[in-house]
Amino acid sequence: MPLQVKRLLIVFAILIGTMFALKYFLTPESWREFGPYRGNALKEIAAQEAKYIDTKTCAMCHDLIAELKNNGEHNSIQCENCHGPGYKHIDDQENNEMKIPKGREFCIRCHARNAARPLNIIKQIDATEHNIGEDCITCHNPHQPWL
Ligand code: HEC
Ligand code: HEC
Ligand code: HEC
Ligand code: HEC
Repeated sequence: MPLQVKRLLIVFAILIGTMFALKYFLTPESWREFGPYRGNALKEIAAQEAKYIDTKTCAMCHDLIAELKNNGEHNSIQCENCHGPGYKHIDDQENNEMKIPKGREFCIRCHARNAARPLNIIKQIDATEHNIGEDCITCHNPHQPWL
């Protein structure tokens, strides 16, 4: 065998050896326990604290607003959809204020006329015509739009 081929073979042997060594040391524990991912990832995700807060939990303290909302057209929308995440607020209100949505843009993101949205599911207005220059909440209560 010519010398240059021997040298090449040695280089290849080192490369392949390094590859197996890296695979051995870098493959995380529980890899492929169930599939092409870490089996432990499932346990880690399941152990995370739940952060979603539903309307029922907000209603424990904001019962009047919850009643308004649940009896109005926005009953299908959770408080968090408009006010943002509330898991810190429910433990400590003073240091964790909720967001208060403001302006026409906020309502328009759901109610602007859009051919991709079915009209029988959500009512839509032409935001360039519908009472322009005025804030939506001067006429519609956000918690019960037809109050
Ligand atoms: C343990 C009782 C409690 C729970 C549960 C609770 N809140 Fe509050 N919330 C308060 C108190 C107390 C205040 C401050 C006093 C006030 O403005 O009425 C407040 C204030 C607010 C404000 C007004 C903030 C401001 O700057 O005026 C909003 C909006 C709000 N809460 C939304 C929510 C939402 C949405 C939820 C559910 C994710 C929720 N709250 C759950 C007690 C609670
Ligand atoms: C469709 C969006 C929307 C939903 C759903 C919604 N809010 Fe609001 N909320 C608003 C807006 C907009 C304001 C600001 C009103 C204003 O500035 O007069 C507001 C204001 C508030 C305020 C402070 C002012 C006030 O009216 O006392 C509280 C507290 C509040 N919301 C709690 C809640 C709770 C609790 C829920 C669920 C039961 C909820 N909101 C659901 C949009 C929403
Ligand atoms: C997260 C999406 C969402 C946001 C944000 C939102 N809405 Fe709604 N709105 C809905 C849904 C869903 C309904 C119930 C279906 C319907 O009636 O269109 C509804 C119903 C309504 C209705 C009753 C329409 C009818 O005649 O039945 C009015 C008026 C309205 N919303 C105004 C507002 C205003 C004003 C704001 C801003 C403060 C707002 N909405 C923010 C989703 C939203
Ligand atoms: C000056 C008062 C006023 C303002 C400001 C206002 N509206 Fe209205 N809105 C009305 C009235 C009155 C109606 C019912 C007659 C109509 O459809 O125009 C209505 C109807 C609606 C409807 C139901 C449309 C349908 O097809 O049944 C939606 C949704 C709505 N408004 C959302 C909004 C949004 C979002 C804003 C802010 C961008 C807003 N409105 C601003 C008075 C107002």
